[in-house]
Amino acid sequence: MVGFITFEGGDGTGKSTQLRLLERHLIARGKSCLTTREPGGTSLGQLLRRILLESGNRPISSSTELFLYLADRAQHVHEVIAPAIMQGKIVLSDRYTDSTVAYQGYGRGFEVPLLLTLNRVASQGVTPDFTFLLDCPVELGLSRTIHRRSDPSIAKNDDRFENENLEFHEKVRRGFLDLARAEPARFYVIDASRSEQEVFAAVKEIVDRRLDLSS
Ligand code: TYD
Repeated sequence: MVGFITFEGGDGTGKSTQLRLLERHLIARGKSCLTTREPGGTSLGQLLRRILLESGNRPISSSTELFLYLADRAQHVHEVIAPAIMQGKIVLSDRYTDSTVAYQGYGRGFEVPLLLTLNRVASQGVTPDFTFLLDCPVELGLSRTIHRRSDPSIAKNDDRFENENLEFHEKVRRGFLDLARAEPARFYVIDASRSEQEVFAAVKEIVDRRLDLSS
């Protein structure tokens, strides 16, 4: 039984839109869903999200950043994800453990094996049944984020990662693709340079098959 699906990818790859479309589709098919995101899936997480994403004039070291993402995840799994799975809901999360490997590992330079261990602690071993990696060229993703802020409470040009250079985002993209290659049974790599509808058709086809909803 499928209980946990994650969406991963670089900034501006359209995860949040696809998550909303999928939630609507599953509800229409009579499924009970819970949609959530990282960072910020709990009330503690909301506070951490503001600290993490408003770079502003508050410098945060790379290791502080790493521990804040992990703290957000630990609380998220404990308070939201694990209980919802136990209740038989399908949990859809916008980002999860793979983002830490891609951003803090490939982007910031932490060793991947160390991050896998820390992720195991933070996630209490709760792993997604499958993961959509929405992949598109970095320039395209970043140009989309300029037009559409995911969180209007965070001022434009005040996002920790959107201010990073292209090279950083290229490393993050490579990180996600390496993760997908390493775990082909869990990942579906989706070409996110296409239209919303085309991307959703691909997502829906896979979900319907995996959940046996095709009838
Ligand atoms: P968000 O505004 O949700 O971005 P997006 O809409 O692109 O998902 O911001 C989340 C940011 O946090 C995003 O740039 C990726 C970063 N992040 C990490 O660096 N490590 C992590 O473990 C997670 C969950 C997110």
